[in-house]
Amino acid sequence: AGHELTRRGALLVVEGLDRAGKSSQCEKLGDYLSQQGHTVKYIRFPDRTTPIGKLIDSYLRGSTNQEDHSIHLLFSANRWEIAKSIQEDISNGITIIVDRYSYSGAVYSAAKANPTLSLEWAWQPEIGLPRPDLCLFLSISAEEAAKRGGYGAERYENETMQTRVRELFRSLFNRQEDVAIINAGKSLKEVSKDIQVAVSKCVERLNVIGPLRVLG
Ligand code: TMP
Ligand code: MG
Repeated sequence: AGHELTRRGALLVVEGLDRAGKSSQCEKLGDYLSQQGHTVKYIRFPDRTTPIGKLIDSYLRGSTNQEDHSIHLLFSANRWEIAKSIQEDISNGITIIVDRYSYSGAVYSAAKANPTLSLEWAWQPEIGLPRPDLCLFLSISAEEAAKRGGYGAERYENETMQTRVRELFRSLFNRQEDVAIINAGKSLKEVSKDIQVAVSKCVERLNVIGPLRVLG
């Protein structure tokens, strides 16, 4: 008596352009799930704390340059180095909220318009990583993004890149299952409500979905 099966956690990813409100919404979602009795962990990619993450950080801040394919593979390696701990946490019943994942990985690299770095090429190193149970794509229009103020100083934070990234996210999410497109142009509160609805449906279905899967 007194021993019950640990219900696995959910792997929830939040994606979107810069200034779509990812960080605030991740925080709100974490609070909501905790109130519902879930154990929740928040992680983000790139994880700038690891040795690989430090290389990525200096690249993003413009302190170093890297060849396009090479930096792409480092972003992917930065996920692979944490993949096992994600799997363990999920089986131990922890729900993980991930701020950016493989989708950003593929899309930002493909947006560089390097002739040998297609979206398809960029996706390959992601195959086999833990597969999100749900990806919430926070969608904002170019106009709304512009209203939210200027870009930061990091690499990729310019109009040309962001426009391409927006288009590529659209074409990628057209062929992905388990993606909820959230209109992030609404108020913080409305957006968080929409996210809660999508996440609740997913969490209810976890026993139907079965064990954590991998990206294909
Ligand atoms: P951040 O602003 O969420 O910290 O992300 C830093 C930048 O890195 C952002 O412009 C998106 C980009 N990025 C990639 O190019 N590849 C990746 O795999 C990830 C996770 C982010
Ligand atoms: Mg940023």
